[in-house]
Amino acid sequence: MPSSTDSVRIDLGERSYPIAIGAGLLATLARRADLPRGTAALIVTNTTVGPLYGAQLAQALAPHYPQVHTVTLPDGEEHKDWQTLNRVFDALLGHGCDRKVVLWALGGGVVGDMTGFAAACYMRGVPFVQVPTTLLAQVDSSVGGKTAINHPLGKNMVGAFHQPQLVVCDLATLASLPPRELAAGLAEVIKYGPIADMELFAWLEAHLDALLAREAGALAHAVRRSCEIKAAVVGADEREAGLRAILNFGHTFGHAIEAGMGYGAWLHGEGVAAGMVMAAELSLRLSLVDAAFVQRLRALIGRAGLPVRGPVLDAGDNAGRYLQLMRVDKKAEAGEIRFVLIDGPGRAVVRAAPDALVREVIDLCCAP
Ligand code: NAD
Ligand code: GLY
Repeated sequence: MPSSTDSVRIDLGERSYPIAIGAGLLATLARRADLPRGTAALIVTNTTVGPLYGAQLAQALAPHYPQVHTVTLPDGEEHKDWQTLNRVFDALLGHGCDRKVVLWALGGGVVGDMTGFAAACYMRGVPFVQVPTTLLAQVDSSVGGKTAINHPLGKNMVGAFHQPQLVVCDLATLASLPPRELAAGLAEVIKYGPIADMELFAWLEAHLDALLAREAGALAHAVRRSCEIKAAVVGADEREAGLRAILNFGHTFGHAIEAGMGYGAWLHGEGVAAGMVMAAELSLRLSLVDAAFVQRLRALIGRAGLPVRGPVLDAGDNAGRYLQLMRVDKKAEAGEIRFVLIDGPGRAVVRAAPDALVREVIDLCCAP
């Protein structure tokens, strides 16, 4: 079990910040000396996480801010939209918050992405802190400063880069996470293996049962190593001029699944899981990896309780529907879809692929 001083640093010059990782960090938060100062704190949470950890966070912040307010959003990916975002602005303005307010995101990736975007916009930018409470948010979404809301036509299409001041990953909060959400988070952990670290992948093969059983040491290692990899990638390419796109392995197919099924039907991590198998199959067809690697990836994803096949989005022309949705992707250039592919285990490449091959993969990988 790590101590509360375990920390990974995101190195971005004046926008650098620590990711604190440990069990019980919320309980000791009030004693931290590095909480950003402000005239008020606004905790942004949702109807599920607020009742679990909202009071604890508010209590920890009370000695640090003249005022601590809370806004509680509806829970769910389907609420990651303008209407719900506006409730954060309503709260900020309703409480008379000035530009020295600090936003505190308490929840999973949905709350984190929306809070970050609200912080990027309010009075042209105010500070915020991430307190991620899902595995997915601790290993990925709370780190790196991508913030966004969804548009009905495309996932995360409206947003901004805005780095938090601090990320607090309290592993104790993972105890209340539903098993399906834990598995969804594992998808983003597994992702780091094929794109960057096959040692981590082998460790996951050996320790998956411990992770599913939420053993503290295993969770701590998975969160720490994931954050280290993400920190290195974001430190090298904060605004995704190139390298950072590798973090989207599985996401091109996955985002199409999420949008095509209707936000919230498939969890983000589930879409990424099936999407990683599809991207690996595409890599195989482009002779970048062998069949044994694809099978190894499929096996680990399946063992994690995640889908290894995509859903049928259109009974008439399923592949056509996937292609249509995938063209609305931030990596697309002049309408050409660009995929994150595995160029030998542990290394990723971003490139286009012939539609015929993509169709072949979709036909192979989608459940009838
Ligand atoms: P989520 O935020 O919807 O949380 C999953 C569910 O778990 C929700 O119902 C939530 O209320 C509940 N929950 C959260 N913490 C809990 C806890 N400790 N105990 C019990 N229940 C808890 O989903 P997520 O998987 O955390 O995040 C997915 C989102 O993150 C997507 O919108 C995705 O686009 C985004 N994302 C962003 C980035 C980024 O870089 N910004 C990266 C990856 C994913
Ligand atoms: N999750 C993808 C990124 O942060 O770039």
